[in-house]
Amino acid sequence: MREHNACVVGMQWGDEGKGKIIDLLSEEFDLVVRAQGGSNAGHTVVIGDRQFILHLVPSGIIRGADCVIGNGVVIDPDQLLAEIEELREQGVEVAGKLLVSDRAQVVCPYHKALDGAREQAMGDGKLGTTLRGIGPAYADKAYRTGLRIGQLIDPGFVRDFFETQVPLVNKVLQHVYEAEPVDLDELVEWGLRSGSALKTMVGDTVEFLDQAARDGQAILFEGAQGALLDIDFGTYPYCTSSNSTAGGFITGTGLPAAELGRTLGVLKTYTTRVGAGPFPTELDDELGEHIRQQGGEFGATTGRPRRCGWFDAVAARYSARLNGVTELALTKLDVLEGIDPLKICVAYEIDGRETEVFPAQADRLAAAVPVYEEMPGWKEATATGDTFDTLCPQAAAYVNKLTELVNAPAKIVSVGSDRAQTIIG
Ligand code: GDP
Ligand code: IMO
Ligand code: MG
Repeated sequence: MREHNACVVGMQWGDEGKGKIIDLLSEEFDLVVRAQGGSNAGHTVVIGDRQFILHLVPSGIIRGADCVIGNGVVIDPDQLLAEIEELREQGVEVAGKLLVSDRAQVVCPYHKALDGAREQAMGDGKLGTTLRGIGPAYADKAYRTGLRIGQLIDPGFVRDFFETQVPLVNKVLQHVYEAEPVDLDELVEWGLRSGSALKTMVGDTVEFLDQAARDGQAILFEGAQGALLDIDFGTYPYCTSSNSTAGGFITGTGLPAAELGRTLGVLKTYTTRVGAGPFPTELDDELGEHIRQQGGEFGATTGRPRRCGWFDAVAARYSARLNGVTELALTKLDVLEGIDPLKICVAYEIDGRETEVFPAQADRLAAAVPVYEEMPGWKEATATGDTFDTLCPQAAAYVNKLTELVNAPAKIVSVGSDRAQTIIG
């Protein structure tokens, strides 16, 4: 195992604070790499009065690390180019620091149209996706009807590709969803323009990362989403379309498992989820609203209010195991200030039977009634400094309880959105 490499994974339904943690850690790394997902991700980095929200560019860019978007990511060229421009306006230069995989799939405008049309057609049964075209782009990859970045930058390929695909896509849009068709010439023009704008950033990231690893560079893998949104291990079908557990770093970069290094699991000290799907500890009441307001729990990508609830140790243990988590970053502890008592879900009761197993089927999880343990809350400041011994006694006890339940040590405790509001062990 490469001790100097590390993975950062979300352990819940996303938005655990991965962006903040990546930013903190990236100082110690040469490379920061995204391996899965797309612009459905929204990773926030706060430095003083400056806020950055990253969707496709790895969060390490803020500290000036070299960044790679690996082959497992689905890339919306419009989003990527807009993000690079926005970063430039905020004083962060991406040019020369970002390498985009030629094997990564392109999110085409019709993927977003299909995402929206399908959600609308599903009515009350919709998944609540981010409408960023993620599902349709990964579906085309699996169907082998997708477009790769390496093909997008080849002007000779673009027209042929869309000439084949557009009639099929339009059949689906018009006859399945009764939606507007896409225009072939417009798409070709879009493809040529996007390819030309991206060309200088594109390369063979598999070779690049292999060389970097052999040169002994320290690599930080930036997870997007969270384990409970993983397409295999998450709350299917209420999940995303990629492997957001640590396995996704292998298939999403081409680096072998031995390069992954230690695995830091980012875990919110309560639970949130955006979109539809089962959520046993959800607080659909005033307290849930209080947490939403205190924690600013509104989506970084879509602005949707996040559903909020108590910490779920059954889910967190499942996630720690799936990811091989070696240490934890516990986030947003400050948000719990003033809530007394605090509840922690330690088991589920499903059909009258108590279990500590996270169920495979979403309908079983929907039937789960949480078994809670209570802990005393605190009214004073969560922490007065940046060391563990400055946590107030009840906050320290809560942290210890979570680490015991998840069976991994807390390396980082985050007590505010700013870089500085962090306790590092
Ligand atoms: P990510 O997707 O995992 O990177 O998380 P998001 O950026 O979507 O959501 C986390 C939100 O919580 C962002 O607005 C962060 O600025 C904020 N945040 C991160 N850590 C803390 C913390 O310890 N306390 C508070 N109050 N906010 C935090
Ligand atoms: P970060 O990286 C929270 C959720 C969506 C929806 C489901 C499927 O910021 O933690 P998709 O657009 O992927 O097809 O939507 O997954 N989702 C996220 N929720 N944080 C994310 O990313 C998410 N990415 C996708 O809300 O429920
Ligand atoms: Mg997010």
